[in-house]
Amino acid sequence: MSSQQFLAEKVTTIGSSGIRRIFDLAAKMTDPIDMSMGQPDFDTPDPIKQAAISAIEEGHNSYTVTHGLPELREKIGAQLKADYDWEPSVLVTCGVSGGLVLAMMACLNPGDEVIIGDPYFVSYKHLVNLFGGTPVVVDCYDDFKLKPEKFEAAVSDRTKMILVNSPGNPTGIVAGDAELKALAELARRHDALLVSDEIYTVLSYDGPCPTPVRHAPERTLLLGGFGKSYGITGWRMGYAAGPADVVAQMAKLQQYTFVCAPRMAQHACLTALSTDVSQHVSDYRRKRDLVVSALEGTFEFVRPSGGFYIFPKAPAGFASATAFVEEAIAHNVLIIPGNVFSERDSHFRVSYAVPDEKIIEGCQVLCSIAQGKS
Ligand SMILES: Cc1ncc(COP(=O)(O)O)c(C=O)c1O
Repeated sequence: MSSQQFLAEKVTTIGSSGIRRIFDLAAKMTDPIDMSMGQPDFDTPDPIKQAAISAIEEGHNSYTVTHGLPELREKIGAQLKADYDWEPSVLVTCGVSGGLVLAMMACLNPGDEVIIGDPYFVSYKHLVNLFGGTPVVVDCYDDFKLKPEKFEAAVSDRTKMILVNSPGNPTGIVAGDAELKALAELARRHDALLVSDEIYTVLSYDGPCPTPVRHAPERTLLLGGFGKSYGITGWRMGYAAGPADVVAQMAKLQQYTFVCAPRMAQHACLTALSTDVSQHVSDYRRKRDLVVSALEGTFEFVRPSGGFYIFPKAPAGFASATAFVEEAIAHNVLIIPGNVFSERDSHFRVSYAVPDEKIIEGCQVLCSIAQGKS
């Protein structure tokens, strides 16, 4: 018996056709060079693992207060004060995804518009739709800069939120301070909330990442994450920092949904915040350089400065990025077509969070296909 009738329309209308076909093809691959991963390939640093184990063994297994352990919130707050001279309200969330869900739930009335740069992280449009908003997508090709004039043109009297992500997934591009300043001023002029997804901010290779917090501290909701920086994506840890009223309502909603972030992971994140991950950052800088030199000359791309992705253009001769990705999969290299992150199907995402030899091997295959040598 079909159980379709039990489902909400807003769920069944979420499309997954593009990626489903890729997953179907990927399922048939044996021992692929997998460059599709959205998580670091380094193991969780030992002190962080030990802190989680100790927390469990010492009996820290119950709920925490909804906002999160006071000492963790204090430590996050102290870091934000030291970095940006900023004293926002802080809520510990279940990953950045938890923060995104709560922010949309707390802020969107039916029909409220959320402006998003294209390409965008996969969940953004769907979450806006699920919570009754309308995503308004701004094309940021081919340099992937956040173009303030295009964002300005997308503003209407329904604009409620501007959502930015830097370093970006899928592009690895770090937004410039001038762009963020202009977007902050735009948000202020139109009384919009600026949501800044900074999950990759620790993984920055050419200097620190600018943040809109510096330009609009009163209206920025910063979503920070622990998963990518410390190799604990499965522990579901993040935080939201921003305007008191917004964070208070997000906390109220967390009480009725997630309840709290996992307790042992909260204890471990206290240790994470004092753990030096600069070696991992250097390793990923080297991997970034490796992938850039391996693809340079064959593919068009913008050199990424953060995260662990590069987003090259599919070569001429392929009808779409999906067609190129299908060819790569046929040659045992798994990458993701750009239409998963975009209104366009012209680029593809390569994750370089893999061992160096896989980067070299995988890029050689991609270059051979592009050069018609395969
Ligand atoms: C830009 C961006 N935001 C949010 C998330 C979700 O992060 P989390 O695992 O902390 O929920 C990801 C994960 O890939 C991401 O790339």
